[in-house]
Amino acid sequence: MDLDDPVCLCFRVTKRKLLAFLRTQQPQVASRLSECGGAGTGCGWCVPYLKKLFDDRELDESSADYAVQRERYRDTGERPNDQ
Ligand code: FES
Repeated sequence: MDLDDPVCLCFRVTKRKLLAFLRTQQPQVASRLSECGGAGTGCGWCVPYLKKLFDDRELDESSADYAVQRERYRDTGERPNDQ
């Protein structure tokens, strides 16, 4: 799943938004992801995936960091190990 793909189809909440919420708000329980655009509060389809995102948040954050590093590379031509 790409970062801009919606995880919660009911409310069009993307994986990127959810990862940013996890990083900035550092929720202690998965159910707090509902505070991110109402994710998981519609039909309930995405709730297992939201729980997985919460459980794997450090791994997924690494993926987000990877994407951020690529954006920096595109802007500056520098890789993290170049410094
Ligand atoms: S897809 Fe998330 S609540 Fe329906």
